[in-house]
Amino acid sequence: MVNPYKPIISKVKRVVEETPNIKTFTLAPEERIEFKTGQFVQFTVREVGEAPFTPSSSPFTRDEMDITIMEAGRVTKAIHCLQEGDLVGIRGPLGRGYPLEEFYGKEILVLGGGVGMAPLRSLLLTLIALKSKFKRILLLYGAKTPEDIVYKGQFADWKGEGVEIHRSVDRGDGVWKGRIGVVTVLFDEVKLNNEVAIVCGPPIMMKFGAFKLLEIGYKPENIYLSMEKNMSCGIGKCGHCALGPYFVCKDGPVFKYSEIKDIEEIWD
Ligand SMILES: Cc1cc2nc3c(=O)[nH]c(=O)nc-3n(C[C@H](O)[C@H](O)[C@H](O)COP(=O)(O)OP(=O)(O)OC[C@H]3O[C@@H](n4cnc5c(N)ncnc54)[C@H](O)[C@@H]3O)c2cc1C
Ligand code: FES
Repeated sequence: MVNPYKPIISKVKRVVEETPNIKTFTLAPEERIEFKTGQFVQFTVREVGEAPFTPSSSPFTRDEMDITIMEAGRVTKAIHCLQEGDLVGIRGPLGRGYPLEEFYGKEILVLGGGVGMAPLRSLLLTLIALKSKFKRILLLYGAKTPEDIVYKGQFADWKGEGVEIHRSVDRGDGVWKGRIGVVTVLFDEVKLNNEVAIVCGPPIMMKFGAFKLLEIGYKPENIYLSMEKNMSCGIGKCGHCALGPYFVCKDGPVFKYSEIKDIEEIWD
């Protein structure tokens, strides 16, 4: 039987500085890790510890995995010190990803904020790879400042693949010519059929993003949110990631709004 706690040794192949506090690490695992977009992995730095992250690359890229990481505390600080050639551990995939088949034939709105764009990049690359199955793909993305926008060089490629892209920043920098304001200001400039919406970002953005979607007519069962909780085992054994009646590591991290709408700690 496979030991779920045993990490797969992975080499750091590339490190890209996305913003002053976010880097993307391309890892080459010794054994192939097949994941569904939206699932997560536990990333181990030897002698420091492990933390959960969602791969930001396409699940169709088999031999490498990108993980985009914001420096937040102890483990992420150690990750940010990694260099090309260093060895780390990856455990997973874990949890429940996006139910892609439920999205077929529909208009897909992807709503992202900050480093929340990491799982959404994986999702967008998947949607692009399967684009004939979807009616329309839109991305609304918000960052604090233009400097904080992740994947800066990649939006043009996604646009070229037919994704409709709208971006905003909370504060401009004198050069920024786009929208200024929190990401929900972008709803003014798009006409939507309110079919499927997928949201990932900081808790405040998830909350107001979900409320806005409900206000404009999305059904609670068609809004998907990626939830974050502190984790330990990652496989539903320790209870660290309890969220209402769920364990985020096992029942999530992707939830429908209708599943989590009554959990006060999320919406208070
Ligand atoms: C399913 C899932 C997927 C995720 N995917 C991603 C992803 O793709 N990319 C990503 O960047 N993150 C992701 N995260 C979040 C990521 O796991 C956390 O940022 C990470 O675990 C933080 O670990 P850490 O040891 O660096 O921080 P910790 O040391 O645990 O610190 C975490 C928080 O505590 C605060 N803190 C730390 N030290 C102190 C202190 N001394 N005093 C006061 N406050 C302090 C930090 O500011 C931070 O907010 C995901 C989380 C989950 C659950
Ligand atoms: S992290 Fe142990 S139950 Fe979820």
